[in-house]
Amino acid sequence: MNSISPKGLALVTGASSGIGAVYAERLAARGYDLLLVARDEPRLQTAATRLRAEHKVQVEVLKADLTLKADVLKVEQRLRSDSSINLLLNNAGIVADGSLAVADTDRLEAMIQLNVIAVTRLAAAAAASFSAAGRGAIINIASVVALIPESFNATYSATKAYVLSLTQSLAAELDGKGVQVQAVLPGVTRTEIFWERSGIDAQGIPAEMVMDATEIVDAALAGFDQGELITIPSLPDSAD
Ligand SMILES: NC(=O)c1ccc[n+]([C@@H]2O[C@H](COP(=O)([O-])OP(=O)(O)OC[C@H]3O[C@@H](n4cnc5c(N)ncnc54)[C@H](OP(=O)(O)O)[C@@H]3O)[C@@H](O)[C@H]2O)c1
Repeated sequence: MNSISPKGLALVTGASSGIGAVYAERLAARGYDLLLVARDEPRLQTAATRLRAEHKVQVEVLKADLTLKADVLKVEQRLRSDSSINLLLNNAGIVADGSLAVADTDRLEAMIQLNVIAVTRLAAAAAASFSAAGRGAIINIASVVALIPESFNATYSATKAYVLSLTQSLAAELDGKGVQVQAVLPGVTRTEIFWERSGIDAQGIPAEMVMDATEIVDAALAGFDQGELITIPSLPDSAD
């Protein structure tokens, strides 16, 4: 697919549900063509059909399991070779439950592959292509637990601290090269990650702590539009 939108083509990982699905909708509404990445291809195709009809943009689906190196390389290769891609949303992520001493270490490894290794490889590919073109944006979804690691399990928080640190360093590296970089740090958000996929008892989380994915994404995009490097969607005052 060659993007024909004047806005360009946005590559969204984890576009099949939650925060990534809302970003896909909001970016389509802004006029971006989309390249939707996740494992659940039928779900991505359903979203693609709806987004094409509602927003008159081009939408392509790329099935990839980003815990597998061959699949990460496929997405990376696309980022390096397709000059119409000008926005990368590194959003796909999972949570591994439990304290380190009792954790399922294979699940931890898969989480690190997805939350850290894939994010890094895709950000590197985008940084190379976008800086060569002198334009583009990289948005990495971290979490508030990057700042308060003692409030959640060690390993998930550590992957998100990595994403925050990587984004801050990358912003310095790309300064003056025409590439915008943003880390988004959501608080607890009502999506599948905790409620359906993690085994964590999310029912115990106080309702007033939980935001909707639409609120998170709209606040994150407002921060993006203001050029914020770090956006914490639960803090409405940008001075905070
Ligand atoms: N919800 C929260 O409270 C919260 C708070 C802070 C940060 N975050 C972060 O927000 C991001 C999005 O999460 P969410 O809350 O929207 O959760 P979600 O609804 O569970 O969405 C996760 C997305 O990641 C994709 N994904 C999972 N494993 C994958 C794999 N191996 N390869 C490729 N894609 C994979 C899923 O698609 P498939 O299953 O189709 O592959 C899905 O589209 C994550 O990075 C998460 O850490 C969430």
